[in-house]
Amino acid sequence: VFTSPVRTGYVEVGEDKFCLPVYYRQYEESLKKFEIYDDDVFVCGHPKTGTTWCTEMVWLIVNNLNYEEALKKDLDKRVSQPELCCLADGELFKNICYDEYVSLRYIEEAKRPRCIKTHLPWSLLHEQITNGTKTPKMVVMLRNPEDTCVSLYHHSQIIDQYTGTFKEFCTLFVAGRVSFGPFWKQVLSFWEQRNRPNLLFIRYNEMKENLPDVIRKVATFLGKALAEEEIKKLSEHLSFESMKKNPKINREELYKTIRKSGYSTGDSCFIRSGQVRAFKSKMSPDMIKKFEMWTKENLVGTGVSVE
Ligand code: A3P
Repeated sequence: VFTSPVRTGYVEVGEDKFCLPVYYRQYEESLKKFEIYDDDVFVCGHPKTGTTWCTEMVWLIVNNLNYEEALKKDLDKRVSQPELCCLADGELFKNICYDEYVSLRYIEEAKRPRCIKTHLPWSLLHEQITNGTKTPKMVVMLRNPEDTCVSLYHHSQIIDQYTGTFKEFCTLFVAGRVSFGPFWKQVLSFWEQRNRPNLLFIRYNEMKENLPDVIRKVATFLGKALAEEEIKKLSEHLSFESMKKNPKINREELYKTIRKSGYSTGDSCFIRSGQVRAFKSKMSPDMIKKFEMWTKENLVGTGVSVE
């Protein structure tokens, strides 16, 4: 378990030393045991890369634009997240918001086709996926590490009781000592699998620049035909303004409960700023340089582009 003054409760997992909540050990085996189906649809990505945004889009496409259900039921309950049990075994969830939907049974009993979201790297996914026995479609979210880091810093103040400075957080991020890091190892774990036909990569800034095009691409990938009117309506539903005020997505109630409990050390919202390259006004020029060099070192020869 890490003993850094601002980081406790994490373990290093696997060859790439992924930084996961200490409870991961308890669930490691069961996370690889439940049944995967070919008609499952996964949304994968490092935390704060826009996975919730992508998940709402994917869920609606998979469910034939069932807005009625989307507006009735929390996204967190329409979509399962296998590793949530590891996060949810922590003090916060146990005391504040423990719910049956964090258990793996919730995934096993979910109506098919299931939508499943995960922040786990490829190497820690269910064996039936990594060995190719099952080929569920997987949409993989990518976002630049700087904006991801800023976003995760705010998020960690809410749910991780992070008390360090922003600069310290950036150092932890680059060192791979934030949840689900090291960032580039997480991204590259999927990128190395890019030739598998069941994987589709989507970039956060692509969604910002041309959401209808991304919807078209994802719908085609999922084998769904959408009319232009439907694409327009879905783009509106997925806009930052609309998602920010959507109580089935914005986790406002959960955040309120956490704040009231005195657990959080910050006061941001889940749907927070929604911008591309906003890190420029938050990070020092030195830190931006550090990120650039770290990115260069990690990406040499890989051909990956997150923007
Ligand atoms: P910021 O904190 O930079 O605003 P995840 O869902 O993977 O945790 O990612 C959360 C990030 O996605 C947050 O980034 C959040 O604001 C952003 N996001 C969520 N919905 C969005 C939308 N409709 N448009 C733009 N950004 C969105």
